[in-house]
Amino acid sequence: MSHNYAAILEQIAEHVATADFGTARKADYIPALSDVPDDHFAMVICGTDGEEHAIGMADLPFSIQSMSKVFALALAQRAYGDELWQFVRREPSGSAFNSLIQLEQENGIPRNPFINAGAIRVADLITSRYANPDRSAAEFLAQLCGNPNIRVDNDVYLSEHLHGDRNRAIAYLMKSFGKLDNPVEDVVRAYFKQCSIAMTAREMARACRFLACKGIGLDGKQVIPADETSRINALMLTCGMYDGVGDFAFTVGIPAKSGVGGGIIGVIPGEFSVCVWSPRLDQRGNSAAGIRALEMLIRAIGRSVF
Ligand code: DON
Repeated sequence: MSHNYAAILEQIAEHVATADFGTARKADYIPALSDVPDDHFAMVICGTDGEEHAIGMADLPFSIQSMSKVFALALAQRAYGDELWQFVRREPSGSAFNSLIQLEQENGIPRNPFINAGAIRVADLITSRYANPDRSAAEFLAQLCGNPNIRVDNDVYLSEHLHGDRNRAIAYLMKSFGKLDNPVEDVVRAYFKQCSIAMTAREMARACRFLACKGIGLDGKQVIPADETSRINALMLTCGMYDGVGDFAFTVGIPAKSGVGGGIIGVIPGEFSVCVWSPRLDQRGNSAAGIRALEMLIRAIGRSVF
């Protein structure tokens, strides 16, 4: 890689350690997320050439939450190909990630696979086609990052299950429109399990590197075809940061996907994948320090994808 990434990461970590992120707060709907110390930070860059740079708590597992939606989508693309787009659309929602209003107005067809409704529909499709839908995301991520021990964090899963009524409401609403094929509890279980996977920033950066490599994984094998990879990147750019996606494209300008655990994955196709983690979230549910860190990284190397 052509830049001094080690120095850039150091500057970013120094800035983030002292910056004021105003009202940013951790997700508090489950203890497993609110118990993480505010100052935890990690950032890992995986070059398409195999170089890797890391700073901070790069080897401490955290809850991947909605970043899992990218990988679930890839699993659904594998199983359904183009047929997938009959079930879920490809438009930004402009609404909160767990909103029900648009879903009602649009007859139970989710706007995109990265809002909760879309991800729950994707979990439904995976449930129809995969033998172990509760484990398929974890197994896929284990393969992608090269660590066979990637697991669902059971405490997080139990909390998701106990606090999951809004997601159940989304699933029942889709069911009422005839847009969910499997029983609601089976589908939300698969969805909660994929959100509850624990991984480190290093593992996450490695796992999404195929998105920067035309679909080729760490082991040199094609994960999904190159054109399907471009589609995931396009969806990340237009839908990956919820209703903060416009601001994020404006200030950072790379395909990215966030999770309420405070992680964000991003890619510059042909160059690198990146994962940043800091638990405090802005009002849209995206990591405040994570966005700042990505903005600094992109400025330092002087390019976005535009
Ligand atoms: O569905 C939920 O509420 C969580 N399990 C995942 C949400 C999430 O990460 C949305 N992200 N920003």
